Amino acid sequence: MSDAFDTIRAEEERLLCRSYSRYPLAIVRGEGARLWDADGREYIDLLAGIAVTGLGHCNPEVNAALEAQARKLWHVSNLFYQEEQLELARRLLSTTHHGKAFFCNSGAEANEACIKLARRYMRKVKRRDAFEIITLSGCFHGRTLGTLAATGRQSLSDGFTPLPEGFRQVPSCDLDALAAAMTPATAAVLLECVQGEGGIVPLPADYLRGVEALCRERGVLLLCDEVQCGMGRTGRFWAFQHAGLTPDAVSVAKSLANGLPMGAMLATDEAARGFEPGSHATTFGGGALTSAVAAKVVEILLRDDLPARAARLGAALMERLRALQARLPEKIREVRGMGLMIGVEPAGEGKPVWADLLRRGFICNLCHGMTLRLLPPLTIPEVDLDSFAVTLEDILTGR
Ligand SMILES: Cc1ncc(COP(=O)(O)O)c(C=O)c1O
Repeated sequence: MSDAFDTIRAEEERLLCRSYSRYPLAIVRGEGARLWDADGREYIDLLAGIAVTGLGHCNPEVNAALEAQARKLWHVSNLFYQEEQLELARRLLSTTHHGKAFFCNSGAEANEACIKLARRYMRKVKRRDAFEIITLSGCFHGRTLGTLAATGRQSLSDGFTPLPEGFRQVPSCDLDALAAAMTPATAAVLLECVQGEGGIVPLPADYLRGVEALCRERGVLLLCDEVQCGMGRTGRFWAFQHAGLTPDAVSVAKSLANGLPMGAMLATDEAARGFEPGSHATTFGGGALTSAVAAKVVEILLRDDLPARAARLGAALMERLRALQARLPEKIREVRGMGLMIGVEPAGEGKPVWADLLRRGFICNLCHGMTLRLLPPLTIPEVDLDSFAVTLEDILTGR
């Protein structure tokens, strides 16, 4: 490692809480699907800040929207009406069957809003004491205490207990288990149509439709966590649209403001009756600056039909990776995904492949030491995906 990198790492040891394990890279600049490290090395970014910079780094149109809004108004709080929130809500809601938006700052908060809405809707609107939230194995919904309880993974909550009550997890893709877990106390099922942190696992459309049917039959709300798989990444604006679902509420964050912290819950008019003035709030949620940027992001996604581009580029890359798997079955166990949300599982250990990709200038993520997770900007040039496929083949064949 270079002196520049060693200095940064030493300063971090001194100054920051040790809650992250970092990659051995200090990133100093980004443009489109490219990143540069502290030593001036260039990388192709197949991770986009974990599905955040969907329109690429320092997107000029998003920058212009940011600069214009920065000169006009940043923040006044939710004590005031703000046109920027309304413009964002209009654009976001034009993509879905939902009728109302609530803005917050992160994915975990967006899920907290969904969970709180479901519980309050049951108690105040339906007059039922239903509070339990059912989630699926392999899920990830965040790191607040509530969303850790929803995620239900022991390794993540180690040392943080007690977690809030009222969460139950069932094996994913098992409708009988879900049916058996539903009781009069069940308020909602919360799921990701494509599990992201779980290693890019698309849940089958039939199963998802079965979950929705069960929810409707039992009077339980369906909540979709679109934090990672939403905003065009899977080839439709929302991942739930592939299976034709109509969830009562969805959570969104990550790429909503292309890198500014922003989250939202979108709810049907009916489910949104669960909130009234004073029942939920956050200081920064829907601030003018982040809202104006997010409104521009949604405008560009729709104008350039980037979900369709993600579908096209993702299908081409996946076909290529599956052909590689067919040629090298002893090297690749599985290729999964939808659109530009792709997981490649090497047959052996994942870490050496991931590290070799990094050495050769490709940034991706490794889930659970097993799955190479690709979440590139939706605007990534096709040739960058081509060179990734070539490089992966080189690595797997020892070239
Ligand atoms: C599906 C999903 N939900 C929720 C979260 C939590 O989002 P945040 O880290 O913004 O709180 C994540 C983060 O990776 C996620 O992938």
